[in-house]
Amino acid sequence: MSKSAIDTALSSGSDLDDVVKPTLWQRFTAHMKKWWWVHGIVIIVVVLVTVLPLVYVGVPHFANAYINKFQYNETGLAITNPRPNAIHLSQKSKIATGGGFTGSGHLEPFNASLREPSTNQEFAVFSVPEIEFSGSVELDIDQDLELLCVDCMSQLAIAAATNQSLSVLVRGTPDLKYGALPTAHLNIDKTIKMNGYNVTEFLNSPGAFNVTGIDLLKEKVNGYNVNATITIQNPTPFTVELGHIAFNLTIGDDDTPLGYVDLPNVMLEQDVSSTVFWGSLDTEKLIDEALTGSGTLGTVTIGVKGYSCDYNGQTIPYYEAAIKAINAKATLDLFNYASSLFD
Ligand SMILES: *[C@@H]1O[C@H](CO)[C@@H](O)[C@H](O)[C@H]1NC(C)=O
Ligand SMILES: *[C@@H]1O[C@H](CO)[C@@H](O)[C@H](O)[C@H]1NC(C)=O
Ligand SMILES: *[C@@H]1O[C@H](CO)[C@@H](O)[C@H](O)[C@H]1NC(C)=O
Ligand SMILES: *[C@@H]1O[C@H](CO)[C@@H](O)[C@H](O)[C@H]1NC(C)=O
Ligand SMILES: *[C@@H]1O[C@H](CO)[C@@H](O)[C@H](O)[C@H]1NC(C)=O
Ligand SMILES: *[C@@H]1O[C@H](CO)[C@@H](O)[C@H](O)[C@H]1NC(C)=O
Ligand SMILES: *[C@@H]1O[C@H](CO)[C@@H](O)[C@H](O)[C@H]1NC(C)=O
Repeated sequence: MSKSAIDTALSSGSDLDDVVKPTLWQRFTAHMKKWWWVHGIVIIVVVLVTVLPLVYVGVPHFANAYINKFQYNETGLAITNPRPNAIHLSQKSKIATGGGFTGSGHLEPFNASLREPSTNQEFAVFSVPEIEFSGSVELDIDQDLELLCVDCMSQLAIAAATNQSLSVLVRGTPDLKYGALPTAHLNIDKTIKMNGYNVTEFLNSPGAFNVTGIDLLKEKVNGYNVNATITIQNPTPFTVELGHIAFNLTIGDDDTPLGYVDLPNVMLEQDVSSTVFWGSLDTEKLIDEALTGSGTLGTVTIGVKGYSCDYNGQTIPYYEAAIKAINAKATLDLFNYASSLFD
């Protein structure tokens, strides 16, 4: 078998498309980005853990053509219930092995160890269930992934959020039973590399989300004077539960404080999802900057700085580390929101 074929199969399975569109509330976007990569890491773990064995299964008889075509399909993967030391992964899917692959067998359950190669410190162990195959493979993942080194996970998340390169080393030694062949002892040792994401670029690119309603509240509610509903395009084919995220905002070239926004409950579902945000914003400053600031009439430059992330009242340190690494600027045209802001 060809190692590069496996590399190809793996990298094509873990490609992260930069889906990009512009709109207001780039904070959301920023969140998305950061989360993205954190999730990307997790996905990669899953990809490795599930795809690698499949690739190895294909090796004895089918080799390169099959392997080159193989793509992990993360549609339906859900990353939920974030806790300080764990996340939950679930996915049910059926993968046709195809390509004349007719054999059947199974891969024994095994523990896949995950680490950042340079630290040599394991940050998680993914307990891979038994995988049966017979013309197709049924994936039925529904389990927690315990994080053994939260700092390691945070470092990966920060790298992802600041567009540094990151890698994850996956190791495992599953046993494979294939047809009438004797049990094969596999030895998985694979480093997955990826680049982080440029949040500023994403924020300033055309709109992955829309603000469908902005309310300027005459009477503050819990200290907030603005709320809105936002629809977000999920750039990933999987579901990600983020919880509560907060950002601090500044405005103008001199970074005058503008206030903050809270997104109480962010769950990125497949395709498009909606969520509410609440803001405590200096709306006069916002409008003043739009009308008299240095930019084109109606446009403002907003600085977005990540502040916190928690779920069920508990800080989620690895997500928060990524959120806090977000420090981006985006230019918005307030006239797009004029009917809400100036009525
Ligand atoms: C992934 O699976 C979904 C649902 O099963 C399907 O609609 C989609 O086309 C698949 N994507 C690829 C690239 O095979
Ligand atoms: C995975 O690791 C856990 C904890 O060390 C252990 O209890 C379990 O038996 C291991 N599973 C396999 C398949 O080796
Ligand atoms: C991230 O950095 C890499 C190289 O360090 C670069 O090739 C890539 O274009 C950058 N991505 C973004 C979105 O800026
Ligand atoms: C991110 O994108 C911005 C705007 O395109 C660019 O100025 C900056 O250098 C990029 N940063 C990295 C690390 O690629
Ligand atoms: C935002 O609005 C544009 C134009 O109406 C639409 O094409 C796009 O799909 C919307 N995006 C989301 C995430 O709702
Ligand atoms: C904004 O707050 C007002 C007052 O509490 C409420 O009536 C409205 O439904 C809220 N809008 C959203 C999008 O949550
Ligand atoms: C930043 O945001 C947090 C949470 O929304 C808020 O409590 C804090 O006061 C903000 N800091 C500044 C300087 O606005």
